[in-house]
Amino acid sequence: MRTTVGIIGGGPAGLLLARLLHRAGVDCVVLESRTREHVERRQRAGMLEQGTVDALRAAGAARRLDLEGLVHHGIELRFDRERHHIDFPVLTGGRTVTIYAQTEIVKDLVALHLASGPPLLFGARALAVDQPESDAPVVRFLHEGRERRLVCDWVVGCDGSHGVARAAFPAAAARTYTHDFPYSWLGILAEVPPSCEELIYARHERGFALHSMRSPRISRLYLQVPNGTAADDWPDERIWDELAARFAIDADWTLNRGPVIAKSVTPMRSQVHEPMRHGRLLLAGDAAHIVPPTGAKGLNLAVSDVRVLARAFDALHTTGSARLLDGYSDQCLERVWQATRFSYDMTRMLHAQPDGDAFDHRMQLTRLRRITASRHAAAELAANYTGLPLPT
Ligand code: APR
Ligand code: PHB
Repeated sequence: MRTTVGIIGGGPAGLLLARLLHRAGVDCVVLESRTREHVERRQRAGMLEQGTVDALRAAGAARRLDLEGLVHHGIELRFDRERHHIDFPVLTGGRTVTIYAQTEIVKDLVALHLASGPPLLFGARALAVDQPESDAPVVRFLHEGRERRLVCDWVVGCDGSHGVARAAFPAAAARTYTHDFPYSWLGILAEVPPSCEELIYARHERGFALHSMRSPRISRLYLQVPNGTAADDWPDERIWDELAARFAIDADWTLNRGPVIAKSVTPMRSQVHEPMRHGRLLLAGDAAHIVPPTGAKGLNLAVSDVRVLARAFDALHTTGSARLLDGYSDQCLERVWQATRFSYDMTRMLHAQPDGDAFDHRMQLTRLRRITASRHAAAELAANYTGLPLPT
């Protein structure tokens, strides 16, 4: 097989990049190791920055998003049994966010691929990227029991945090920065109307809790648990009781309860790989960086990498200039590190630190009080949460 851009990974990054390249007339192929059912069912994020919505619209993949997406004008912070609204449009000059599940984005993109291309191979597991420094890098992959070769002009690793593309970077040419947090999130999907109009981030000495949603009938909630927790350690009633305790406020508010239809535990890690390019191999999305989900940046960072990369390939295709491609890694890493910092700060501010003492506890409350008392501090949170400007 031969193509201009070989894309490893059919998650949001790989699928969206392929759609944008296809619309720009750039030939590409997507290799996805799992089945269509698997990638469409994986419960992941759900909070979209405006830039992400814009990119999906540019890809012609936003019809359902525009119909079903829930536009939110802020979030609620809860601590010390108080509630505080952070008003995004007021603090950012009009910006909002949209709730629309990553599973639905993947379904929408897969449907477009299968209807009108570019080629998307499921069950195609990349084994390695050979000769990334050459002008014809090769992706070796297994598909239908046979080893095959995809000869490319360029290869983009969109293969997530456990992918293979990164392995093609010579050790001397790459640096990896990692931070593991001393806790995880237990996430549930429940068949119950949300108990709130917008997301609730709760800091409590028992631990962090987040109330999100997927639709007017489906709630998505998370609670901080110790690392190593098994989802089965938490029967539904225990989850609802713990969430109710952590969201409790001195006001008339009740947490709606209902059947839990999905349950999983996710560890919290930050990781950044530098650079995001080696020769003709580039990385985008979780393949290059992962963040703790507290700041809702994972999906949005993946999309912002893809927007920069698609623009760079379009420039190469239409003008022959590789200038934007040459600047890709540095441009994206600036935004990656800012999102990593924001996600780290939000995580540290809102989670009970297992080895924390009374001083740490008071520092967290003092940070939260500063945000809810100062328009300047609240605007800084709102600017980061709704999305810093895309690299130009
Ligand atoms: N060959 C082919 N496909 C692979 C390989 C491989 N060797 N290794 C991994 N993949 C596929 C995975 O099956 C997955 O579908 O690459 C895809 C990577 O998708 P994601 O992990 O979703 O990463 P990305 O597309 O960058 O999207 C980032 O997804 O994981 C969430 O929190 C993350 O919301 C963020 C978003
Ligand atoms: C979600 O809806 O899954 C979600 C929302 C905001 C976050 C994390 C997850 O910070």
